[in-house]
Amino acid sequence: MPRLATEDAEIGGQKIRAGEGVVAMLAMANRDGSVFRDPELFDPARREAHRHLAFGFGLHQCIGQPLARAELRVALVELARRFPGLRSERALADVPQRPMAVTFGVAELPVMW
Ligand code: HEM
Repeated sequence: MPRLATEDAEIGGQKIRAGEGVVAMLAMANRDGSVFRDPELFDPARREAHRHLAFGFGLHQCIGQPLARAELRVALVELARRFPGLRSERALADVPQRPMAVTFGVAELPVMW
C-alpha cells in the first residue's frame, strides 16, 4: 500500500518526514509475531485471526470485503463439499512458496482427492 506522509511521524523507530513516501506491507503485518502466535503456521482457527489486516484498516479499508468474504465462504464450502478427500499431494515442507511476492502464497499446490 503506497502512502504519502502528510506530517512527520515515527513508526517502529523509523522517522518519516512529511512528504515522504511509505509502503505498508500488509502481508508482513499479518505475520507480526507480537500479534499472531506462530505467525508462519496456517491456522484458520487461530483465536487472534480477527486482527489480520488483509483488507486494510481505517478510512480506506476494503469496501468490497463483505462480497469477498461471501464469495470465499461459498467457494471453500463448495470445494470441501464436492471433494471431501481433497488434500495436498506433498508434505507442507515441500510445497514451493512465493516468498518475494507482495501477496504471499504458494507457487503451486498439486492436490489429490
Ligand atoms: C480477498 C479479496 C480482497 C482483498 C484481500 C482486498 C484487499 C483490499 C485492501 C488491502 C485494500 C486497501 C485498503 C487501504 O487502502 O488501506 C482494498 C481496497 C479496496 N477494495 Fe478490496 N480486497 C478484496 C476484494 C475486493 C472486492 C471483491 C471489491 C469490490 C467488489 C473490492 C473493492 C475495493 C475498493 C473499492 C477499495 C478502495 C477503498 C477505498 O480506497 O476507500 N475489494 N481492498
